Amino acid sequence: MNFLLSHLSLPVLSAAVLLASSPYVCADDGKEKDTDKPVTYEDHVFPILKKNCATCHGDGKQEAGLNLANYANTIKGSGGGEIVVAGRSSASRLIEVLTSTEDGERMPPDGDPLSPEVIELIKKWIDSGLRENAGSSVAEMRTLGFKATTPTDEAGPGAVPVNLSTFPSVTTLRPYPLLAIAASSRAPVVATSGYGEIKLFDPTTHSSYGAIPFPEGEPLVLTFSRSGRLLLAAGGKPVQSGSVVLFDVATGKRLASVGDEPDAIMAADISPDEKLVAIGCTSRLVKLFSTEDGSLKATIDKHTDWVTAVAFSPDGKYLATADRIGNIHIWDGKSGGVILPLSEHKKSVRALSWRSDSGVVASCSEDGTVVWWDVKDGWPLANRPNAHTDGVLDCQFGPNGELATCGRDGTVKIWSAEGNELKKFTITAEETAKSQLPPGVQLLPTRVAVASDGSTVLVGDTAGNLHSWKFP
Ligand code: HEC
Repeated sequence: MNFLLSHLSLPVLSAAVLLASSPYVCADDGKEKDTDKPVTYEDHVFPILKKNCATCHGDGKQEAGLNLANYANTIKGSGGGEIVVAGRSSASRLIEVLTSTEDGERMPPDGDPLSPEVIELIKKWIDSGLRENAGSSVAEMRTLGFKATTPTDEAGPGAVPVNLSTFPSVTTLRPYPLLAIAASSRAPVVATSGYGEIKLFDPTTHSSYGAIPFPEGEPLVLTFSRSGRLLLAAGGKPVQSGSVVLFDVATGKRLASVGDEPDAIMAADISPDEKLVAIGCTSRLVKLFSTEDGSLKATIDKHTDWVTAVAFSPDGKYLATADRIGNIHIWDGKSGGVILPLSEHKKSVRALSWRSDSGVVASCSEDGTVVWWDVKDGWPLANRPNAHTDGVLDCQFGPNGELATCGRDGTVKIWSAEGNELKKFTITAEETAKSQLPPGVQLLPTRVAVASDGSTVLVGDTAGNLHSWKFP
C-alpha cells in the first residue's frame, strides 16, 4: 500500500531534478522545508541507480552478480556479499566504489563519477537505516535490539545471570593469564576473561553462573554498565581484528557490537547512559560509537602513542583517556571536547578508575606511581610514587572510595579514600608453585576488581588463577 502511494505521489525523477527538489537543499522561500522526510530507496536511491547503473546491474545484465534494480537485491548485494551496511556508509562497499579514485574500481566504470551531492544522498540513505519507502521502518541495524536504559532506579538490584547456555570451553596448552576482570557494582556478579570466553560467577560464594562465548578472540577489557544490566567485552586478535560486544548480563545474549578495528582493542568503556562506547586503539585514536546504530560519533586524536585506558565518569560528564607514554586527558563525556590534560606519569598508564562520586579519577602506571586526580582542576590530590615497585598494573575503586591496586612487586594493595595504604596482600609461594609456570617465573597479579559488597577484592594472575581477599 505504501509502495503504491509513494509511487503515485512522487514521479520517478532524474537525479538532477531530484536534487533540485530534494528536501536536503534548503529552500529559502520558507515553504516545503521538509528536512525531516527520510531518504528512501524508492523515492531517492532507485532513480539514481536506474539512470547510472542499470545497464550493467539491472534485470538484464548483472555484472558481479549485482542487481540494483530493486530493493531486495540491492540489500542482498553482489556475489561478493553485502554492499550496504545499515547505519554505516563508511563501511559500505557501495560508497567505496562510488568514491574510488582507482580506474577499474570506480562505478560507473566509464563516464563521469556521480556528483558529490548524489553520493551524499546515498550515504544518507545508508546512515539513516536503508528505508525502502516512506512507509517503511528503518532496516535492521547491525546493533538491532539495543536500547539504552537510563539508570534511574539506582537502588534496585542489578542483573544476575540465569540459565546461561553451555558451550565447550577452550583448553590452552600453557596457563592462560587472566587479562580482564570486572565486578558489577549493583549485584554479586564478577566476569573474568578466558581464551574465547567470558566466565561469570558469584564473588562471595565463588559459584559459577556459567560462561559466554567470545569468538572474537581474547577479551582484553571487561566492564559492567552502571545499571549492571550490560557487560561490555572488548578485545580481539592482535594485528588482525578488534571489536566491542555488549552482552545482556541476565541472559548472556549478545545485544550489540561496535567498532571494527584492525587490531585487538585494549581499552574500552560504556557511558553510564549506555548510549556511547569509547574505545582506545593502538592507532593512537580514541573513538566514540553510538550503541544504538553503531555509528562513529567522535574521534579524539590527541594521543601520540597507543591508547591504553579509557573511562567514563559515573555521572557521564567526563571521559578520561590515557596512553603508553604516560599522558592522560579529560574530555567532555558527551561530545569528546577537550577539557584537561593531566601529566604526572613517566611511563605507560595501565589503568584509570573513577571514584563513584565522579569527583576523583585515579591513574596507575608502569612507573610505579598511583595518582588521585581532582577532576575539577586536574590537581593531583595524592601521588604515591612507590605504590608498587617496578610498575602498577591495575587500579580500581570500590563503592566506598577505597582503591585496589596490583603491581609487578607481586602484591595487591587497598588504599583508603585519602590515599593511604590500608592493606597489602601477597600471592604466596605455594600458589606460585601450583601454577605450572616455567621455573624462575614469578606469578604476578594482572587485574583487580572490587565486588559490589565493597569488601571483597578479586585479583587475577598470570597463570589464570583468581584470588579473593576480604578487607578492611
Ligand atoms: C558498464 C557497466 C557497468 C556500469 C554502468 C556499472 N557497473 Fe558496477 N560493475 C561492473 C563490473 C564489470 C563489475 C565487476 C568489476 C570487477 O569484478 O572487477 C562491477 C562491480 C560493481 C560493484 C562491486 C561488487 C563487489 O562485490 O565488490 C559494485 C558495488 C558496483 N559495481 C556498483 C555499481 C553502481 C552503484 C553503479 C552505478 C553508479 C555501477 N556499478 C555501474 C560494471 C558496471
